[in-house]
Amino acid sequence: MKTGLRTIYFVTRNPHKVKEIRELAIDSGISIQHLNYEYPELQLDEIEEVVKASANYIRREKGAKTPFFIEDSGLFIHALNGFPGPFSAFVFRTIGNEGILSLMAGKSGEERRATFKTAIAFCQSASAEPRIFLGVVEGRIADSARGEGGFGFDPIFEYRGTTFAEMSTEEKNRVSHRGRAFREFLNHIS
Ligand code: IMP
Repeated sequence: MKTGLRTIYFVTRNPHKVKEIRELAIDSGISIQHLNYEYPELQLDEIEEVVKASANYIRREKGAKTPFFIEDSGLFIHALNGFPGPFSAFVFRTIGNEGILSLMAGKSGEERRATFKTAIAFCQSASAEPRIFLGVVEGRIADSARGEGGFGFDPIFEYRGTTFAEMSTEEKNRVSHRGRAFREFLNHIS
């Protein structure tokens, strides 16, 4: 770790998210320390509410390390009335990208519009209510999975003709839901 940097803990089980966030934090004066453990996630309709409840749980735990943040992301497909949204993790685990592509069979053009959304919850201390930061990117569900990079729904989420899995981390961060949410967060804390 470089000296003189402010340390903030990122609580997540997902190493891909850590990689993206660490790249986003380069030159910010912040060192991202990964805390790899599971916390309860309520099944709520809005991801903002999900991260808020989880952050409150974490900060009240004995020995909670602060300041920390967590994040939750969801893919909202317009033609499916926002599905899978807050159920994205379950849907990815069960039907995966192939399942989503099957649900979208026969849909074209505007019907394939989709939104990726990230909510970050940041707690400055164990006694502080979480602050929420949001990032949204509009794209579409690709006709087939493309690309080797990224994770999760990246091969089927297309932004201006390129899937997230076809982008480098730097390119994805520039336009992604997570990149946008994290820049909001940085603006707040710097
Ligand atoms: P969660 O934020 O870990 O709950 O993510 C919900 C689901 O969306 C998981 O299956 C993730 O793999 C997926 N996911 C989250 N962020 C991204 C992303 O940036 N690209 C593609 N899939 C993602």
